[in-house]
Amino acid sequence: MALTAPPPDLPVPSRPLRRWVLGVTGGIAAYKAAELIRLMVKAGLEVQVVMTAAATRFIAPLTFQALSGRPVATDLWEASEGAGMDHIDLVRQADAVLIAPASADFLARIAQGMADDLLTTLVAARSVPLFLAPAMNQAMWQNPANQRNIALLKEDGAYFLGPGEGVQACGEVGLGRFWEPTMILDALAPVLGWENAPDLRGKKVLLTAGPTVEAIDPVRTLTNISSGKMGYALAAAAVACGAEVVLISGPTALPLPEGCRMISVRSANQMRDAVLDEIHDTDLFFAVAAVADYTPANPSGHKIKKTGEALTLKLVPTPDILATVAALPRPPFCVGFAAESQNLEEYAKQKRLAKKIPLIVGNLAQRALGRDDNEIILFDDQGSHPLPPASKSELAHHILKHAFALMRQHTLSS
Ligand SMILES: Cc1cc2nc3c(=O)[nH]c(=O)nc-3n(C[C@H](O)[C@H](O)[C@H](O)COP(=O)(O)O)c2cc1C
Repeated sequence: MALTAPPPDLPVPSRPLRRWVLGVTGGIAAYKAAELIRLMVKAGLEVQVVMTAAATRFIAPLTFQALSGRPVATDLWEASEGAGMDHIDLVRQADAVLIAPASADFLARIAQGMADDLLTTLVAARSVPLFLAPAMNQAMWQNPANQRNIALLKEDGAYFLGPGEGVQACGEVGLGRFWEPTMILDALAPVLGWENAPDLRGKKVLLTAGPTVEAIDPVRTLTNISSGKMGYALAAAAVACGAEVVLISGPTALPLPEGCRMISVRSANQMRDAVLDEIHDTDLFFAVAAVADYTPANPSGHKIKKTGEALTLKLVPTPDILATVAALPRPPFCVGFAAESQNLEEYAKQKRLAKKIPLIVGNLAQRALGRDDNEIILFDDQGSHPLPPASKSELAHHILKHAFALMRQHTLSS
């Protein structure tokens, strides 16, 4: 799916927006709000879910209650407590309102200032920023009336997150797809206080991610348990900061972060070739992939038959992609990753020096691989910088910010 709108120029709040009303409206993408809530809660945000009546036809409020840890509000006439003014109270306690997914019908109603259910009333009564993540069929999106409503809402100061372009739930292809939840969070990063997003417009960021897969014979492989989540999170964060992003990935089960160009590879050799093809105009290179250190010397052209005897495989070292890039005459700013199962600090520092790179991100393999969150330490010329445990999305923004600041220092001093 392609990113069809640049990351929006977000407001610059005086303090991070931590308390959110998440409005869910009626559309197929309502189920994706569940993942969005999970990620928001994981990122330490307070999320009060409010659903339209139509949204409750697509997904039960109980799902959102379980994920947000709060009762879901759905009815203008059913006051939870206090003075019975939920439509005002809910939004007074919030720093921002996000409608995700936002239906065509909902956009139409709020563009006209209507207040005929709890969510529209709450939007009308708010004085905090409004973010809209639309999701609808491509013809509904293109509909002139819908486009007029969007123009009105933008004029009134609403921030649009998406939509994306691609195959839709109805089978049609075009504009109107809901942005993936990670993409929405990445785009919101600057207002969440995760970082002051570096401005990467005009910069090319190249990343490797996921495992590599080395053939033993046509049906058997050597690989590792890397999920690709950290690399994909970094790619999404770089897109959100305006970079041109190329993601060279081994096989993973993850959706392509929006706005990236992806090159799929399997083996370490293929990954090296793809990196060298792309590296010439790259500004920042993140070697996140868990590249196999060894590959079978002579992969068999046919399936190796079971004989009952011990089988000896001869393995030869794979190319060192990061060291190769770092040794180029005009290398980009290189960031490596070290996943170790022990002696993290010692091994990560050694690896940074051996590869002659300015920054390495150290993490414990057992704490990192396959998980949604991580705990990392950044190692550079100044020493080590541990970061508190956080989601990989949030850490990606911190890594990007640190790398960009170092890159600027290097450029200024060279
Ligand atoms: C199966 C189904 C899927 C729908 N998907 C969408 C959608 O993705 N986007 C949209 O704008 N409307 C969609 N609609 C129409 C909305 O549900 C309808 O306009 C509804 O009135 C929206 O109410 P709300 O804006 O109060 O949530 C869909 C309707 C049905 C029956």
